[in-house]
Amino acid sequence: MNYDAIKAGELSFPPGFMLGAATAAYQIEGAAAEDGRGPSIWDTFSHTPGATAAGATGDVAAGHYHQVATDLDIMASLSLEAYRFSISWSRVMPSGEGVVNHAGLGFYSDLIDGLLERGISPIVTLNHWDLPQALEDRYGGWRGRQTAYAFERYAEIVGAAFGDRVAIWSTHNEPWNNSFAGYGHGVFAPGIKNHEAALKAAHHLNLAHGLAVSALRRTITKPDAKISIVLNIFRVEPETAADVEAARRFDAVANRIFTGPVLDGAYPADLLEDTKTFTDWEFLRPGDEAICHQPIDLLGVNYYEIMHIRDRADFDPAQEQMGGTAFPGSERVELFRPTGLGRTAMDWTVEPWGLENHLVALSEQRPDLPIMVMENGAAFDDVVTEVDGKLAVIDRDRTRFLIDHVKATLQARERGANVVGYLVWSLLDNFEWAAGYGPRFGIVRVDYDTLRRTPKLSAHWFAELCRTRTIPV
Ligand code: NOJ
Repeated sequence: MNYDAIKAGELSFPPGFMLGAATAAYQIEGAAAEDGRGPSIWDTFSHTPGATAAGATGDVAAGHYHQVATDLDIMASLSLEAYRFSISWSRVMPSGEGVVNHAGLGFYSDLIDGLLERGISPIVTLNHWDLPQALEDRYGGWRGRQTAYAFERYAEIVGAAFGDRVAIWSTHNEPWNNSFAGYGHGVFAPGIKNHEAALKAAHHLNLAHGLAVSALRRTITKPDAKISIVLNIFRVEPETAADVEAARRFDAVANRIFTGPVLDGAYPADLLEDTKTFTDWEFLRPGDEAICHQPIDLLGVNYYEIMHIRDRADFDPAQEQMGGTAFPGSERVELFRPTGLGRTAMDWTVEPWGLENHLVALSEQRPDLPIMVMENGAAFDDVVTEVDGKLAVIDRDRTRFLIDHVKATLQARERGANVVGYLVWSLLDNFEWAAGYGPRFGIVRVDYDTLRRTPKLSAHWFAELCRTRTIPV
């Protein structure tokens, strides 16, 4: 695809297409031990020596909890139409179940009201990885079936509290990271390295999703509210015909382990076969797949880069670090990054055509399920300068990245994809999980010493996009 061929202003957004920005509780809020919030697995993990870059924690993060009014005004000044945030389960229910913390509920209630007063649609994620530590201690976290039922009760409580106002609900964000990075690879909280644990966690997340969808349907009252799940369905591209089988194996354990039960009502047979050396799947009980398979209104997709795959014939388990690959059943899969492509500060490749082709393909598979790009964005090393005596961040690389990916989204629509929104990751620079505060994804800079906010060039560009609803290049 030659993006230069698309002339300025030629592509515009159809009515109803939502433009906005996204964040997550643990990455921005801080105030980790204030107003009754209980600890989450990310508090414990980030305080474990060696777990995160430079020992970074979310204790303060971007200080959003105390600067929520400033942040709301920034969102309004950027003319955002939608804001996606997550609820910290342990702020609302400090032990994950039982007692409700009304100060926690009040924080999110005020945030939602603040958004609505400014004409911004609230998009809420229930689980963006910060599971209450008490549930990890009591049930083994997502390894335990009881955690799924605790999630159902949590969904019921927040659904009843905010169900009159929230536009879009998502149960989980990227359950792949939650389960495989958290319980399999151990690079994310809670830092467990066990393949069976990862598969168990994935199943209990799927179960929790289904239970929570039903709980939300029982409690929400806003007639046009939508319910979704946000998956990082990977765009999988085998290098050659000889790598197609490796790509299939990766797709099974990374993508179809979630889309199978959640969207189609069953785990794929090839996944069960590929993973049988790690588990007998005894945790999958009769009737579970039907619970996972609840009708949803929207599929949330996060896109960052293409997963290029080749078969790794020389795989040697003895050489593997950390007890093996993050993809049980796909040991011979090699993920590689082709040379000659742009790279972000995460070293991720820049391939906007991947987003375009992905949206088209996903929509072809499920034409009736609208898709929303719930996250897309990039970390680059920003430079703070002064323009007319004011601080400025001229982040041309991030702006270019966003322009190309917004165009890709619109091109996908032109090719028939049923895409209904695009959200930038992220509104603010924030705690990038195990990578700490090094990578900056925000369109608004956060000075971590003063917590002062400075909208970057990309924010000004995005604001213009929201106002004109065409691509101003
Ligand atoms: C996906 C996650 O949802 C978000 O929390 C993270 O910061 C971004 N990707 C960037 O890695």
